[in-house]
Amino acid sequence: MIDHMPGSVYKVVIICGVSLMCFIPVLFYNKQTLTEKGSIFFTVDDDDFSFNNSKYLVSTPKCKIPDLDPFDPKVRKFYHPEKYTPCSKQILLTYVTKIDNIATLHIDSDVVPSYTKNNFSCCYSNITRQENKNNPDDNIKITPCVAFKDNVTIHNFVMVKCKDIKTGKRIYENTHAVITMKKEVKRKMDVFNNNTINPFSVLFVGIDSISRLNLLRSLPLTHQILVDNEWLPLKGYNKIGDNTFPNVMAILTGFNESYAYSKCDPKKLNKLDHCPMIWFDFKKLNYITGYAEDEAWINTFNYKKKGFTEPPTDYYFRPYIQGSEKLKMIRKNEMNYCTGPETAGERILNIARDFVLTFRDYPTFSFFWMNTFSHNDINSPTGMDSKIKHFLDEVSSSGVLDNTFVIFLSDHGMRFGEIRYMPIGWLEERLPFIYISVPERFKRQFPVEYRNLEEKRHHLTNPYDLHMTLQHILVLSGFNYTMRTSTACPKCKSLFKDTDFERSCEDAAIEQHWCTCAGYSPISPNNRTVLDASEYIISQIQEIIHAKRSDSKCAKYNVNKIIASSISETFTYKNDTYFLLVIETQPKAVFEATVLYKNETKDEFLLQGGISRLDRYSWHSRCTDDAYLKKFCYCR
Ligand SMILES: *[C@@H]1O[C@H](CO)[C@@H](O)[C@H](O)[C@H]1NC(C)=O
Ligand SMILES: *[C@@H]1O[C@H](CO)[C@@H](O)[C@H](O)[C@H]1NC(C)=O
Ligand SMILES: *[C@@H]1O[C@H](CO)[C@@H](O)[C@H](O)[C@H]1NC(C)=O
Ligand SMILES: *[C@@H]1O[C@H](CO)[C@@H](O)[C@H](O)[C@H]1NC(C)=O
Ligand SMILES: *[C@@H]1O[C@H](CO)[C@@H](O)[C@H](O)[C@H]1NC(C)=O
Ligand SMILES: *[C@@H]1O[C@H](CO)[C@@H](O)[C@H](O)[C@H]1NC(C)=O
Ligand SMILES: *[C@@H]1O[C@H](CO)[C@@H](O)[C@H](O)[C@H]1NC(C)=O
Ligand SMILES: *[C@@H]1O[C@H](CO)[C@@H](O)[C@H](O)[C@H]1NC(C)=O
Ligand SMILES: *[C@@H]1O[C@H](CO)[C@@H](O)[C@H](O)[C@H]1NC(C)=O
Ligand SMILES: *[C@@H]1O[C@H](CO)[C@@H](O)[C@H](O)[C@H]1NC(C)=O
Repeated sequence: MIDHMPGSVYKVVIICGVSLMCFIPVLFYNKQTLTEKGSIFFTVDDDDFSFNNSKYLVSTPKCKIPDLDPFDPKVRKFYHPEKYTPCSKQILLTYVTKIDNIATLHIDSDVVPSYTKNNFSCCYSNITRQENKNNPDDNIKITPCVAFKDNVTIHNFVMVKCKDIKTGKRIYENTHAVITMKKEVKRKMDVFNNNTINPFSVLFVGIDSISRLNLLRSLPLTHQILVDNEWLPLKGYNKIGDNTFPNVMAILTGFNESYAYSKCDPKKLNKLDHCPMIWFDFKKLNYITGYAEDEAWINTFNYKKKGFTEPPTDYYFRPYIQGSEKLKMIRKNEMNYCTGPETAGERILNIARDFVLTFRDYPTFSFFWMNTFSHNDINSPTGMDSKIKHFLDEVSSSGVLDNTFVIFLSDHGMRFGEIRYMPIGWLEERLPFIYISVPERFKRQFPVEYRNLEEKRHHLTNPYDLHMTLQHILVLSGFNYTMRTSTACPKCKSLFKDTDFERSCEDAAIEQHWCTCAGYSPISPNNRTVLDASEYIISQIQEIIHAKRSDSKCAKYNVNKIIASSISETFTYKNDTYFLLVIETQPKAVFEATVLYKNETKDEFLLQGGISRLDRYSWHSRCTDDAYLKKFCYCR
């Protein structure tokens, strides 16, 4: 089919290449062609799955990604919206004000009666990093609590505790983070006060494990705000690795996971500090930088990793979150949802808002990431919908967007659980949501670049492109900055550059296992080749375990049953055949893998990228501390 397409399609595209209308004729043309040829992409039984094959997110010669209904009956049954769960029924007893760069912690006398009728006393402590040599990122110091009355001037991060004097009971505890201008930051501001250039700022707001479709399902109010404000979605944004680390590192460094480990081994001390992460480039160019993430133990650079020896950004909120996790916590879906009277997620949103508002007139690069209300459950984000909407509303109306690129995104969709046994779950896992807000000033100053970005809405894109785009923002901001190609993806370009209509997953350095550009059709699980492939996959898993010298710790797997088996549909630009299998083993684990099949004298298989683990495994992988091995090991 694609064979007869290019001629006509190219004409359509070239003719209308610079007009905004151009996408529609292309889609229309493809729709006709596909329907005529009866080609079903990402094939599944019709009765089993209502897939409307005339709808695509991306429809280019080497990439077709179906546009599935977020409320497809197959997934609707998993959809159970939740209400917001507050962490305290009372109004917070303390709050912070900031005047002339002086932050003051106050006791809210109006709400005192709801806490106690008696006399009470409050004290506060500073929270700082404990610069422990071996684990500089892991520990915090909380100074002795010093009593104060009414109010007190504070710096950085504090913990506050109040008790009822009569009963001796603790009536309140909380933590606060304040963003005041430090000396070093003031110096940066001075540089820009003197300067004639007016650089663009960058704000990342990330929520872990939310697919594009799950955003539509579980964050409808948020979605509406994005639509109303014309934020640009990248509907074909395909993840490049399994979990957060590879996908975030790809954005920050342009490296793939194995190269990131070899260049910036996060398991070794000081390595990330010297890793060429893009925020260091922004920092060097006098941007004010910030980074915050909730759920400290699973933080992107800390989960079974060493993290940073020196704070990587001017404002680094890890100690604040660690301090907040010392408060009374309420766990939800195995996450530290409530840290004292506030949800951890709202703490991140509050910091993000404070950060961008404090430095609204200066160039900033900030990265905010939330895990606690989304990591383990596809429904739990629903409760936070109005909070996220409110945050985006506030940021939108604050004027910050006039000068700031906001990248609102996730790293991947839900990686495990029931939804992953469905074809739609396969697709969702690989297609996280991403929306970009572009400053009006940029649209005016760089109309061609903006139009190119707009075209990317319906093209295959990935985190490496984003890495190139961040560098391009520095160039377009007027800095003498030399862009570096992504080592993992030398062909990846800034999203402001021309669109490559013929882009394939190979061009985008997306391994077949994660690639959503090509469909799969069902094949009998009893097919000899499929059975051989399943044995091959299990043997590869055993090899991983063996390479980690863990055969004695981890059970040996056998194939118990093949839950799903499919074979790739072919694209004319390559003749490879892939099998995609979901295998249940004995002892019980569920793996998903993609293998390349070479039909030669004897069956030959080759893994194409990582192996996914679809069931929850934390309960029986406790015998190992190795994050990678945990995914494979069933402790004996
Ligand atoms: C498929 O989608 C197209 C375009 O959105 C729509 O016109 C058509 O009615 C849909 N078909 C089915 C069977 O849902
Ligand atoms: C609070 O303390 C003051 C002086 O220490 C005392 O006069 C007052 O009665 C106390 N109030 C209550 C409600 O216990
Ligand atoms: C907290 O640190 C500041 C200096 O950063 C200091 O002035 C203040 O006394 C400290 N407060 C406590 C309770 O230790
Ligand atoms: C702190 O409290 C004192 C005494 O109640 C008051 O006079 C002062 O204005 C307060 N400071 C601030 C910054 O609100
Ligand atoms: C800004 O300009 C002033 C006056 O020209 C100069 O004194 C100061 O050193 C400059 N500051 C920086 C950070 O360049
Ligand atoms: C830009 O930087 C390069 C290398 O750092 C330098 O050679 C060049 O002169 C600079 N150009 C301008 C216009 O400052
Ligand atoms: C990762 O990137 C390096 C170059 O940085 C490349 O040599 C290697 O093949 C890539 N690995 C994978 C699995 O794509
Ligand atoms: C297995 O499937 C392949 C691909 O569809 C087919 O060519 C082959 O004949 C099948 N083998 C058997 C034994 O059915
Ligand atoms: C794929 O196979 C067909 C038929 O065997 C052949 O004509 C074509 O050149 C092959 N394409 C590629 C890219 O290898
Ligand atoms: C492998 O090749 C043989 C002989 O050409 C053919 O019968 C068989 O169906 C092929 N298997 C697959 C899985 O394509």
